[in-house]
Amino acid sequence: MSQILVTGGLGYIGSHTVVELIEAGYEPIVLDNLSESPLEVKSRIETIVGHEIIFRQVELCNLAEIDALFKEFPEITGVIHFAAFLLVNESVDLPLKYYHNNLLSTINLLQSMEARGIRNIVFSSSCTVYGTPENPHVDEDAPIQPAESPYGNTKKMGEEILRDFAATEAVNVLSLRYFNPIGAHSSSIIGEFQDGEPHHLVPYITETAIGKRKELKVFGSDYDTRDGSCIRDYIHVIDIAKAHILAIQHLVEGKTTKFDVINLGSGNGSTVLEMIKAFELATGIKIPFELVPRREGDVPAVYANIAKAQRVLNWTPEKTLEDMLRDAWNFEQSLKHA
Ligand code: WQD
Repeated sequence: MSQILVTGGLGYIGSHTVVELIEAGYEPIVLDNLSESPLEVKSRIETIVGHEIIFRQVELCNLAEIDALFKEFPEITGVIHFAAFLLVNESVDLPLKYYHNNLLSTINLLQSMEARGIRNIVFSSSCTVYGTPENPHVDEDAPIQPAESPYGNTKKMGEEILRDFAATEAVNVLSLRYFNPIGAHSSSIIGEFQDGEPHHLVPYITETAIGKRKELKVFGSDYDTRDGSCIRDYIHVIDIAKAHILAIQHLVEGKTTKFDVINLGSGNGSTVLEMIKAFELATGIKIPFELVPRREGDVPAVYANIAKAQRVLNWTPEKTLEDMLRDAWNFEQSLKHA
């Protein structure tokens, strides 16, 4: 079976992608430094797929460690690179932690890939590179704006490093720009684990629904949108994971050379207030909320034009907003709440 290295493979999107890779007949080599995800996620993945997976604890900021991994697994034909710190507000307080980790890990990975002649890499990027777009319905040609945070800047710079390296023909790259991934595997065995108070909207909604949080704060109700709250493009994590399988296949089959970027979203925008209503409709649970001032750095409205993903990868998201919110709620209920 074709071996694919998955860095950050125990993370939220990484773990769902590992499951989809196995179901598509690949053998993932799962790499994680366990800084953000517990080792328990490995056994949860194994429960879903019904067998052991190959896991190595590797610190990508240590070149010798990634070299040793590629030496141990000489059959790896491609890499899906998720490993990164990703908390926007933490990156504002600790920019060097983010630049050091997110950029050095990518540079080390690329250096090691070049030494081993591994040419295919899918990069985990983000719609955050669009900043506050002129037109909220963004396609991949939308101008890249100054990043709203050091985290966002590391995604922008990561793409630039990959683009420049791909220009030397050493690697072929697909950079996938996620919009807002939400939801969980239908088994509820894996999902978006939280460490402390949730930063993102949907985990905050589900923790409010289960009674762990008193109420949801809606950050801003005076934006120039249909109901005053921010618009985002929410996409099921399983649809995101499936796009990664198509992307790595695309590269391994030599259909993309050098560097390309692809948006991954549902193609639809939903406001925060609409998400609350959709959750209540999907679950029958009322979400208490309070309208509070805007959150620093929030973009008023952004949602994806996904025509390119459909054209290049033949990918179309299948899950509805109701699926996303129901799966997120089922995952929340499956967690043992202390
Ligand atoms: C969504 C909307 C908030 C929490 C982030 C990263 C982005 C990507 C996806 C990694 C916003 C509002 C939120 C709350 C709220 N991650 N909100 N109350 O900021 O769009 O994107 O996750 O790649 O890079 O920036 O996601 O879920 O934090 O916020 O009103 O308690 O929900 O203001 O409008 P965001 P989010």
